[in-house]
Amino acid sequence: MNIIDLARPNIVKLQPYSSARSENSSGILLDANENSIGSVVENYPVDDLNRYPDPNQKAVRIKLGEYLNLPYENLYCGVGSDEIIDLLIRIFCEPGRDNAIIVEPTYGMYKVACDINDAAVKSVNLSDDFQIDVPKTLSSADANSKLMFLCSPNNPTGNLLNKEDILSLVRGFNGIVAVDEAYIEFNEKGSVINEVLNYPNLVVLRTFSKAWGLAGARCGYLAADESVISLIFKIKAPYNLNRLTSGIIIEALDKKEKKEIFVSMINLEKERIIEKMASLKGIEKIFTSDANFILFRCSNSDNVYKYLLEKGIVIRDRSSHPMLKGCLRMSVGTRHENDLFLTALWRALCEIS
Ligand SMILES: Cc1ncc(COP(=O)(O)O)c(C=O)c1O
Repeated sequence: MNIIDLARPNIVKLQPYSSARSENSSGILLDANENSIGSVVENYPVDDLNRYPDPNQKAVRIKLGEYLNLPYENLYCGVGSDEIIDLLIRIFCEPGRDNAIIVEPTYGMYKVACDINDAAVKSVNLSDDFQIDVPKTLSSADANSKLMFLCSPNNPTGNLLNKEDILSLVRGFNGIVAVDEAYIEFNEKGSVINEVLNYPNLVVLRTFSKAWGLAGARCGYLAADESVISLIFKIKAPYNLNRLTSGIIIEALDKKEKKEIFVSMINLEKERIIEKMASLKGIEKIFTSDANFILFRCSNSDNVYKYLLEKGIVIRDRSSHPMLKGCLRMSVGTRHENDLFLTALWRALCEIS
């Protein structure tokens, strides 16, 4: 498959902005209208805040490549994975003409980003066990379907999608299949990231916002064929990855053992919460979770949600999503927070149902 043929012709033709730091990054730098004297904020953990960051994100991509065992040429860092979702739509979907396939229920930003970019959405429901219905999904595509978003583990259902189903879509779809692995660290065996070297139309998104505990730093990344990465670099904002964030990400990648400890702690807590919840009257179903959150269905979910909110416990009401009537989603918190949640949930179910 020729990726360039899938991209919008104006993007293929685009002459990208040539930023000062992409042309030169050393010497007497009088080219970018920076403040050469210094920055008003000094002694911050990162130096040279008066200078623009590297537009090619070279140091971070190389470090990330070592962590993932992928060439850095196959990687791009975005301002969260939300930025990458938007960039993919802007590259591949001609506004007012093309569409993206979204497999529901899933993360809401795919649709919002399509709406922003005037790309139509073709929604296909997952099967009853929240897996992909491969024939139905493939047959929803038409000549203008350029992108497909899959989320594994899926938010808000929590489960991994079957790898073989994902790869069947990659082989059968004449467009880009974007697999969002925001929660993959909680069950890494389900990842398809290494397959990006085998399939040019498979792209995998990940983030430092979840397992790594860096939601505030805003960094997500894309692993993809070099042709897709080149298109992304053509249209991204010149200096999207700031010096503070890249410094933090490089440090984080030296601390992957700590991330693994967080993952084990969260997974253990998740099992404990599921076990306790299973014994509560009024809990109708707890869905399998390969992520750091739990989706459950309960009686009177509207009122349970409101009751918890009144007690200061904020979870997500997902009951308006397709297939999720009566469903709420809680993120695994600290042990103390989880205990407060369980107690309040027990009270809510006793008082309301
Ligand atoms: C599935 C999924 N993808 C992407 C994101 C956004 O991640 P980021 O913080 O990297 O923008 C989220 C955030 O909740 C998510 O659930």
